[in-house]
Amino acid sequence: MTTMPRTPDIVTRLPTVGTTIFTVMSALAQQYGAVNLGQGFPDFEGDPKLLDAVTDAMRRGLNQYPPMAGVVALREAVASKIASLYGRTFDPGAEITITAGATQAILTAVLAVVHPGDEMIVLEPAYDSYAPNIELAGGRIVRVALTPGTFRPDFAAISAALNRRTRAIIINTPHNPSASVWSFEDMQRLAQLLRPTDTLLISDEVYEHMVFDGVSHESVARHPELAARAFIVSSFGKTYHVTGWKVGYVAAPASLTAEFRKVHQFNVFTVNTPMQHALAAYMAAPEPYLGLAEFYQRKRDRFRAGLASTRLALLPSQGTYFQCVDYSRSSDRGEAQMCEWLTREIGVAAIPLSAFYADGFDQHIIRFCFAKKEETLDRALERLARL
Ligand SMILES: Cc1ncc(COP(=O)(O)O)c(C=O)c1O
Repeated sequence: MTTMPRTPDIVTRLPTVGTTIFTVMSALAQQYGAVNLGQGFPDFEGDPKLLDAVTDAMRRGLNQYPPMAGVVALREAVASKIASLYGRTFDPGAEITITAGATQAILTAVLAVVHPGDEMIVLEPAYDSYAPNIELAGGRIVRVALTPGTFRPDFAAISAALNRRTRAIIINTPHNPSASVWSFEDMQRLAQLLRPTDTLLISDEVYEHMVFDGVSHESVARHPELAARAFIVSSFGKTYHVTGWKVGYVAAPASLTAEFRKVHQFNVFTVNTPMQHALAAYMAAPEPYLGLAEFYQRKRDRFRAGLASTRLALLPSQGTYFQCVDYSRSSDRGEAQMCEWLTREIGVAAIPLSAFYADGFDQHIIRFCFAKKEETLDRALERLARL
């Protein structure tokens, strides 16, 4: 008698994870031919010089495993960028690791430090990978809301959430999805709260070069007390318009980096070689990242000027490439329904803010991404004028 081959049943480790809203909205945008201002990626190319540098590296035979922690020249370029912008010197040998994007960097940091039963604080609305990362580590997610309306950190609530079991807190500035940025005083307050604790900090700074109106990015690297307990994470994908390359980095004190690399070694081991060499060569000129805020500010201003004549109410966009709007004047639909309707009937895709809250908190706010060509933004604005 033959038995049918059978795939054993498994118990999911991530019971609440399904298809992300980004995938759902992108598919819907495609189905209805909508202008996709949902998912956060540019619809234009990176600098041809950077793209050529990858080909160059491959032709020069730089195609085998690089060092586990990353190509030395790239770690040196990252260290010198951080030193020149934020005044902190990281040792490229012991304190900087190249990762497969910020997503892997954050997961690896969480797996390296969070033990089963440990608590980790997440500030909502939050980027969607944080909570599942903590679950995979066996940690307990402690959610603290940013102040509704302003999305400022609520330090009284953070203080109330901190306790002996709080292994780490993750912050994100400039912030996706709200486009708010942390101030010097915010960092000082956080330092004050963490001072008496052993709580570590993961600082997601992937939009570090996109802060507008002449304001400087308040990196944790500028704050010695915080930097001494932090994994600082960034992403070349955001900075150089190449989100699909998935290359990022983590800067952290040597003892934290050592633990980080133990996990990294058996998870990713190394990140693709030619891209690392290309990024290292390209970073020799600081202009591309120094000019990024102005580049995106022009897009932001154009987009905001167009939105100002629609029935959507603009929220501030201090950083990132996102613009949130309150649509209460135009509709009383829930956010997810509004985004579906907008895609289907108006032809513009957006992301509901409720997707960034575990309980689906609905504030009638949706997020647009303006990392798009001018003609794409103009096409979206023409359609939104019909609202
Ligand atoms: C806040 C935040 N963190 C991390 C990431 C992921 O970055 P990467 O593509 O380098 O993994 C994103 C991408 O959208 C993001 O918005």
